[in-house]
Amino acid sequence: MAHGLSTRRDFLQTVAATGAALALAPRTARAADSRVDVLIDEPIGTIAPEVYGHFAENLGGVVYDGIWVGEGSPVANVGGIRKALVDRLKAIKAPVVRWPGGCFADSYDWQDGIGPRAERPTRTNFWVNTKVPPSPSQYDPNAFGTVEFVRFCRLAGAEPYIAGNIRSLPARDFYQWVEFCNSPAGTTTLAKKREAEGERDPLNVMYWGIGNEPWGCGGDFSAEDYATELKRYTAWVPSYDLHLRYIAAGASDGDVEWTRRFFAKLTAENRGMARRLWGFSFHHYATNVSGGRSNDWNESKGPAVGFTTEQYYELLKEGDRMDAFINAHWLTMGEFDRDHHVKLVVDEWGSWHRPGTQAAPTDTLGQISTLRDALLAGLTLDTFQRHADKIGMANIAQLVNCLQSLFVAHGDRCIVTPNYHVFEMYMDHMGAEAVRTLVAAPTVPYQRNGQPASIWGLAGSASRRDRTVTLTLVNPSATDARETEIAVRGARVTSCRVRTLTADALDAHNSFEQPDAVPAPGETAPAVGASGLVLTLPRASVSRITMGI
Ligand code: AHR
Repeated sequence: MAHGLSTRRDFLQTVAATGAALALAPRTARAADSRVDVLIDEPIGTIAPEVYGHFAENLGGVVYDGIWVGEGSPVANVGGIRKALVDRLKAIKAPVVRWPGGCFADSYDWQDGIGPRAERPTRTNFWVNTKVPPSPSQYDPNAFGTVEFVRFCRLAGAEPYIAGNIRSLPARDFYQWVEFCNSPAGTTTLAKKREAEGERDPLNVMYWGIGNEPWGCGGDFSAEDYATELKRYTAWVPSYDLHLRYIAAGASDGDVEWTRRFFAKLTAENRGMARRLWGFSFHHYATNVSGGRSNDWNESKGPAVGFTTEQYYELLKEGDRMDAFINAHWLTMGEFDRDHHVKLVVDEWGSWHRPGTQAAPTDTLGQISTLRDALLAGLTLDTFQRHADKIGMANIAQLVNCLQSLFVAHGDRCIVTPNYHVFEMYMDHMGAEAVRTLVAAPTVPYQRNGQPASIWGLAGSASRRDRTVTLTLVNPSATDARETEIAVRGARVTSCRVRTLTADALDAHNSFEQPDAVPAPGETAPAVGASGLVLTLPRASVSRITMGI
């Protein structure tokens, strides 16, 4: 095994480099060891802003303490919702939030979360067996229900995406949940109940998930059984003139057999049945960093901090599998949905490390997010963007205090992680036209379980909006900067601005004590030479290059 990295103390002392500290002056093309060609005349598709979506499950410290602090709380809040969180989400134009699960979704009765808060029942949370100290994450007080969720989304400027319960509630509950949310003011009993909560007008929830991980916690269904259930749950749902977007819960990782069997059954009697769906989801977590030593879910995980160089590369490679999964599911869907009406939705993605670094003991699945996770975020968003024609939505797991979070919040403290900086840096891609980009760079060698292995030397994506090209690049090398020549084919680059996120340690991270150990990177404006642009991309970095053309 490769040697361990810095200790936690080292990380806290990390002084992150800002863009300004980086050597970004143009060099001669001869100095470059890598090359990026942005082909602006080869559009891929519009990057759905929803690719930058979030996921907030009623799990651990995500909802209670994370999002919901309560109206009487000394923590700054808007109607009980943590203000710092919505302010930050607005700043990154958060497009959509998925709730209430995850596995929690298929045990949630939405009726428990409506009506006067003091009268709502307390229920056992799906995650109760994870044995955290007594908290709302074990026994759910239901203070945060549908109206609170939609208000949270509204404050953040995001669309709500509700995952329905198909394991433990009948189809009638599903359409009545839609009725509660969307029936016109004053029309139905449920519209009146909504009004009693201060929401006279419809909440206009457009995205509806039909369960979650039906092959597992969502009901242990076969793909065929799930297709049958999905037909039943969606056969009649009132739309109230809103075009509802149903998202079928799909496979884990690259399980295309699930996809094939699901679509085969769904379309067996009626090929047009696929058109009932707006999206088909799959989940992929980057978790196994064992270098092939284990396939055990728990054993194969590595630490969130203090990981080895091998584990660093293995996590990035795990994340990189997303590309093949997208292609495989898309091709399979095309066997049944020839004109690709149904979009791919990756409504859970992110890193999943060994437990033990959560900010509060009640944060089930809470973990520290480091520079390594930020690289994973960058390379995954780039992957989605290279598949802009296929991906309708993606939701990083999870928003706050859980897995690859953008935020850590506890009591009155709320900090951003390096993942947040990546989302903020990449924002210019949202809604822009993805364009084909060719990257040539030497691969990076490393030792995997005592054997030689390698990872690509540079990867990224580019998009164009009017006369601006945004290029984002990840240099995964733990040791070497990349001298990169950048060219925009079909246009002349007239200006350039660069931001680069990196840090001294691969597991540098923010904490309540040092909230800016990994700060948002500054910007430099390297001169554009007549012969083009050559930038030094530091080792272990995520860069955004904004070019005027
Ligand atoms: O995000 C944590 C869990 O991972 C979700 O509840 C479930 O859908 C997935 O397996």
